[in-house]
Amino acid sequence: MYSDRINSLPPYLFAELDRAKKEKEKQGIDIIDLGVGDPDLSTPDHIVQSMQNAVNDPSTHSYPSYKGMKEYRETVSNWYSNRFKVDINPETEAISLIGSKEGIAHMPLAFVNPGDKTLVPDPAYPVYKIGTILSGGEPVPMPLKEENNFLPNLDEITEEDAQDAKIMYLNYPNNPTAGTANQKFFQEAVEFAKEHDIIICHDAAYTEISYEHKPPSLLNVDGAKEVGVEFHSLSKTYNMTGWRIGFVVGNPEIIKGIGKVKTNVDSGVFQAIQKAAITALEGPQECVQQSNNTYRDRRDLLLEGIQTTDLEPTKTEATFYIWTKCPEGYNSMETSKKLLNEAGIVATPGSGFGEHGEGYIRFALTRSLGRIEEAVERMEGIKFD
Ligand SMILES: Cc1ncc(COP(=O)(O)O)c(C=O)c1O
Repeated sequence: MYSDRINSLPPYLFAELDRAKKEKEKQGIDIIDLGVGDPDLSTPDHIVQSMQNAVNDPSTHSYPSYKGMKEYRETVSNWYSNRFKVDINPETEAISLIGSKEGIAHMPLAFVNPGDKTLVPDPAYPVYKIGTILSGGEPVPMPLKEENNFLPNLDEITEEDAQDAKIMYLNYPNNPTAGTANQKFFQEAVEFAKEHDIIICHDAAYTEISYEHKPPSLLNVDGAKEVGVEFHSLSKTYNMTGWRIGFVVGNPEIIKGIGKVKTNVDSGVFQAIQKAAITALEGPQECVQQSNNTYRDRRDLLLEGIQTTDLEPTKTEATFYIWTKCPEGYNSMETSKKLLNEAGIVATPGSGFGEHGEGYIRFALTRSLGRIEEAVERMEGIKFD
């Protein structure tokens, strides 16, 4: 019944864990779910208010423009200039997205022919690989290893893969490893992309969730706009995951290609949502700092707690994830199952993010301090032997 395309998608590795979690809940066991990458914090009031006003305005009710309202694209351009000191032409270098996932998934349809390769970080948010497969391409993993600060080693990419690749996906701050990239790495990636005629697709969904330093944009690097685009999202920054709005900025030819796919498959973002997004990007940014303070307190508490166990957390300077090494003798799935069975805690097995995620689990800081405190107490009692 299904197409070869659908049949070739990788299996959903969390199904068994989801089932086990539901079973426990059915038995009345209190589960602390630190698996989900969806903020528990609510969208700030001024953004919700802006949406309410916009919905009451009938001019928002018709089909929106495919590439986003002019005012939205201008706001995005101003935000880029303020936040990253990067110039974006709102006419040619920015379009709205129905969440960044939508744009990332559709992008390869514009650039990847059957048989072309894409360079995909491993472990990674699954959409880079899946978008590639859906467009008939072949994803080639770039391992993200702890000893290389979860950056891909570009010297390890074979000449053949570099020749055949159309897109290189990058994502910093990174999900699931919480790794961050500096400008030096971005510069190397841009040079590599220029040399091999590869498009860089940088997923920057987490640049605003950070603690010690403000993460840079790929587009801060000289020449980046010649080869790359950057995907952004309001989902994590303003707790707007359900609203479905994001944007992509960068090279005008690449933006045009993504736009071409989109004009043929969707009809843009509800204008009331775009108006609320304008309020979010233009309005007071204290709410972002408040979310970061909340995540920082949770991070510190969970890190301290994990350190008292046989699990080994890696550092989290950005994102709301803690990438944690499994104890000796336990793989990702076994570690997650033990946490679920013995402590009622859900953590995501790293193997679900790719082969090189094996040996790690991911905790998300998307539960209250009180629940994290409880999780820490429960974890202290677990013996990995
Ligand atoms: C790395 C990364 N990129 C993109 C997204 C998608 O975000 P959205 O489609 O809500 O903008 C997510 C969501 O979890 C993510 O983790």
